[in-house]
Amino acid sequence: MAEGGIRLRTSLPPGEPYLIPRAADPCAMVIFGATGDLTRRKLIPALFALARERALPRAFAVVGVSRSIGSDDELRAALREALEAAGGAAPLAADEWNAFAPALTTVAGDLDDPATYARLRLKLDQVDAARGTSGNRLYYCAVPPDAVPAILNGLRGAGLVTASPGRPWTRVIVEKPFGRDLASARELNRLAGEALAEDQVWRIDHYLGKETVQNILVFRFGNSIFEPLWNRKYIDHVQITAAETIGVEGRGAFYDRAGVLRDVVQNHLLQVLALIAMEQPVSFHPDEIRDEKAKVLRALHPWNAPDIAARAVRGQYRGYRDEPGVAPDSRTPTYAALAVTLDNWRWQGVPFYLRAGKRLRRRLTEVSIHFQSIPTCLFGRDDVCQLVQPNVLCLRIQPDEGIGLHFVTKAPGDELAIADVTMDFDYAGAFARPAPEAYERLLLDALRGDATLFARRDEVEQAWSFIDPVLRAWDEATDAPPEYEPGGDGPAAARDLPAAEGRRWKSLT
Ligand code: BG6
Repeated sequence: MAEGGIRLRTSLPPGEPYLIPRAADPCAMVIFGATGDLTRRKLIPALFALARERALPRAFAVVGVSRSIGSDDELRAALREALEAAGGAAPLAADEWNAFAPALTTVAGDLDDPATYARLRLKLDQVDAARGTSGNRLYYCAVPPDAVPAILNGLRGAGLVTASPGRPWTRVIVEKPFGRDLASARELNRLAGEALAEDQVWRIDHYLGKETVQNILVFRFGNSIFEPLWNRKYIDHVQITAAETIGVEGRGAFYDRAGVLRDVVQNHLLQVLALIAMEQPVSFHPDEIRDEKAKVLRALHPWNAPDIAARAVRGQYRGYRDEPGVAPDSRTPTYAALAVTLDNWRWQGVPFYLRAGKRLRRRLTEVSIHFQSIPTCLFGRDDVCQLVQPNVLCLRIQPDEGIGLHFVTKAPGDELAIADVTMDFDYAGAFARPAPEAYERLLLDALRGDATLFARRDEVEQAWSFIDPVLRAWDEATDAPPEYEPGGDGPAAARDLPAAEGRRWKSLT
């Protein structure tokens, strides 16, 4: 029985695979930034988990490129330590590690030194010969955006990439943020376009790999009862929240140059918005889906200066400036709340309130769809009618993954009393298996050549072009962002954003 009293039956027999996945080709994966935070915390744990599930290709190798690590043994030791730390310091099962470790090898060198790429070329030839990886290459740029051009130039200079969709294949994954504003994203796209065909450039946004984010499409287009309501006629507004309890967690130097808009709003939040607001694609083909998402991003109502002052709120948590790597007088925002609208027939006049922040009360990522109030209340008494809250449909991305529909009901008794209740579906209760980590899913998709969950050039540029005016205004602001208390709801001004339009944020508690 799922929480909320709704019995769920799934049509999937236990142990049955969800889909028959396309097998991944033999491949050598090159990670630039092999000792960085992303590799240690996400990529290696994801690869190790895939190896354990026997989901990696039989012929597979990882070449870690870093400035400092000189030998394969050194790389293996560093990554083993990272894996143990990611798994809560539990020692790894020796047999599993021993099966995985030989796939890891290293090339040392600077990313802007052509000699690094010459050595990489030799190493890849050796790897092909030793492990049968067949010339297929997956390059992963696990580095900040300003280091990506050097990698593209280096790969191109050494003849390690050519613009060709043929076989053996070459794909380049670029981490988010893709660029640091519209101009740099365009420049990066131009550079990538010189070296590669568009379908060889894989712009990763790990939110798209989350099971609950993918479910937005299935929920919207696999059920007929919501679609007729999914528009301005019935929906009053939408809220998209990505609240975190953690701070910058040792990534101060990166974060201080990024801030919340570049770190999560331009990518994660706008991608979720696009999935919520898009029209039905003609098919599940990656480009059909990306076409529809791109249209939403193009329909975002552009900012002007008074809008930014009135409908964009920034904040910085108290203590942020004391974090290692953060400037003592930093004006980088760690919180943003934006009220945005879409200029199209479906959504005209429906505000989408977005908020994201670090060191907040609770870790919570969700989308809530707030339906309009009933047109008139027939229950007579004001005190009863005030209890009739509008319906809210809540898509919980994480944690407590699930979907809740809030509605009012008569509380039992001979008095007319009204109560708010929730019809609730939760993933953990309905499906026996845990959802795979987003990076596992996305790495596997990249190995298999399925680009559905990766962002296309026009989507990324469109998202930057929307966010750029706010970025610029905040980057150029001479005053510091308002401070907010760690463990709270964010800056006070954020409360006023929906309040100014007679609405309020869904509680974070
Ligand atoms: C990353 C951001 O993309 O997403 C981090 O760089 C943030 O700052 C993280 O903490 C949140 O991801 P998740 O999957 O933990 O919600």
